[in-house]
Order: sequence, then C-alpha cells, then structure tokens
Amino acid sequence: MTTALEVRNLSVEITRHGHTIRPVDDVSLSVDAGDCLGLVGESGAGKSMTLKAILGLLPKGARVTSGELLLHTAEGTLASIDPISVRGHGISMVFQEPMTALNPTRRVVDIIADGARAHRDMSKSEAHETAVRLLGEVGVPAPERRARAWPHQLSGGLRQRVMIAMALATEPDVLLCDEPTTALDVTVQDQILGLLDRIRRERGLSIIFVTHDLAVIGQVAQEVAVMYAGRVVETGPVRPVLDRSLHPYTNALVTSIPHVDIGTDQRLRTIEGAPPDPANFPPGCRFSPRCPFAQPDCTRAEHVLVEQATDHRTACIHPEALASISVEGSP
Ligand SMILES: Nc1ncnc2c1ncn2[C@@H]1O[C@H](COP(=O)(O)OP(=O)(O)OP(=O)(O)O)[C@@H](O)[C@H]1O
Ligand SMILES: [Mg+2]
Repeated sequence: MTTALEVRNLSVEITRHGHTIRPVDDVSLSVDAGDCLGLVGESGAGKSMTLKAILGLLPKGARVTSGELLLHTAEGTLASIDPISVRGHGISMVFQEPMTALNPTRRVVDIIADGARAHRDMSKSEAHETAVRLLGEVGVPAPERRARAWPHQLSGGLRQRVMIAMALATEPDVLLCDEPTTALDVTVQDQILGLLDRIRRERGLSIIFVTHDLAVIGQVAQEVAVMYAGRVVETGPVRPVLDRSLHPYTNALVTSIPHVDIGTDQRLRTIEGAPPDPANFPPGCRFSPRCPFAQPDCTRAEHVLVEQATDHRTACIHPEALASISVEGSP
C-alpha cells in the first residue's frame, strides 16, 4: 500500500490571555492511497484542530509547534510540504456546515468553477462545464439548473453535495472531512456517506473522516485513529480496533453506541465523567481518571503507541485488562 498522506508528531499550541494550551499533542497519522482513515473522539479531543493544522487554517493565536507533513509525490516518494501550499493543491476540505464555507454571494456554478480555475488553467466556459459535470457526479439532480442557484436556495443535503463538488474541483488526492454529515438528518447522512465512499473508490481518493460517531466510522473507514485529550490513544484497521479494542477509552466509546439489537435490560452506557480541559490535562494516561481499569502506574505512564497486534497500536499500558471482559456491541 502507498501512503498518501502522513502526519508526524504534530503539536498545536494556543496562547490566550497569557495561558498556553496544547490541544493537539504529538499526533501521528497516516492514510493509504484510496483508503479512508476515521478520526474519532469526544468533543474537544483535538480532531478539528488536527485537520486545520494540516491545511494551515488554524484560528488566531494557534500555531504548529512541532510536526511534519508528508504528501505522496508523482515520483512515488513522500515529500515534506508546507500546509499553505497544499490547500487546494493536493488536499481539500469538506466542513460540517456548508453554509459557512459556501460564499453566499456567488452562484453554485461560480463557486465550483472558481476552484477549478484556481487549480488548472482553463477558460470560463470550460470551468462552467467542469462545475456542471461535478454537480452531476456528486448526485445533484438537474445539475444544469441547480448550477444557477444560490447556496441559500438549496437543502442541507444538496449544499453538502455542492461543497463536495467544490472540494473535488481542485482534483485533490486527499480529502479532509470534518463531521460532514453531523448537521444532516439520518437518511441524508447515509446518502452523503455513500457518495463519499463511491467517490473514494472511483477516484482513488484518500479521505480523513472526522466524526464523534463510531457507527459512521464502521460504515466508511478502513483504518481508524481514536483521539482523547489531544492524543491518539489507539489506532489500526477498523474491525480489530472496534471489535477487539485495546484501549479502555475505545472500548467505552464502542459500548456506548446505540445498537439495534440492544435488549431492554441492556441500558445504553455512556462514559462516566467528562474529557479533561486542555488547560489541565491529568498526568500520565489522560484517560486514567475516567478509566474503570486504571492502576496506580497509569498516572505515570509515558504516552507511547505500542503495537499489540498487526498494525494495531494502543497507548494503554494495561491492554490485558480489556481482554478479560467481553465487548457488548460494535457498529
Ligand atoms: N480558537 C480557539 N481558541 C482556544 N481554544 C480552542 C480554539 N478552538 C478550539 N479550542 C480548544 O481546542 C481543543 C480541541 O478543539 P477541537 O475543535 O479540535 O475539538 P474536536 O475534537 O474537533 O471537538 P468537536 O467534536 O466538538 O468538534 C478544545 O479543548 C477546544 O476548546
Ligand atoms: Mg471538531
């Protein structure tokens, strides 16, 4: 397998009112060509910040303090690149709320055509044709007519399709998706997930898909990285990670998923407690204050991802504790 994108030891710091926090702390990720990597974790884990750092779109006051970004090149090697230079050239992003990403003063066709022309020299009419073709490709009905619409005239699902078309206009190799279906109802969510999966397979695109929803990961991703309090705590191929979790945090996420065949006597579990504030991360394993398996040495544990099975790595220093219990449900 060829690696399409690799993020090595990424850390992001934010200074506000004289205090510095590190919401992304030594995160390493990689996605193979044509694969989808799911990035999952509770709110505040640092998922969006990680994607924004990759694209150089960090908010004011935030900066990358360490890390390297490597992108697959035409020569077949991984080359170190600058985030700003890849935006719209190799990597595109799809956001959760299309309305904030789509320019409300431009017609749909122009929004997409702009991206196409920024990427490759083409005439206005060629860009127009490309935009209409992309609208058709992402499943917008009557693309010629819809192309003339303004973003506010479209439903949420159609707007998300337009945003995907806009992201594709620059012919990226990697698509970063930040909760692209969270704002949509379940039926539309399924359609958009199906669309992204089809595009991935047809175009050989690589996708990093951020969500807090493990069931979605089970649907779209081949690989998964689980983030907790700014760090990746478990990573590997989707089925082993979800079915045989090696980190109590992943296990807690898995067992808290609503499951269709959950019996009436099986209450849906949620994870006790709340994730820590980045201004006050606990020492050692950051999940240890909430972990039912925590032992005294967990608060002194250094954060290292150790391979326990083929390509399946965990930062938990007591993965044997989980092996003794059964997993109740997985997506
Ligand atoms: N502009 C900002 N200034 C200061 N802190 C921020 C800023 N944006 C995010 N943070 C903090 O950084 C941490 C990581 O935020 P991030 O948005 O990456 O989380 P997330 O995993 O995407 O969560 P969610 O599922 O809610 O989208 C959070 O603790 C958040 O409060
Ligand atoms: Mg987010």
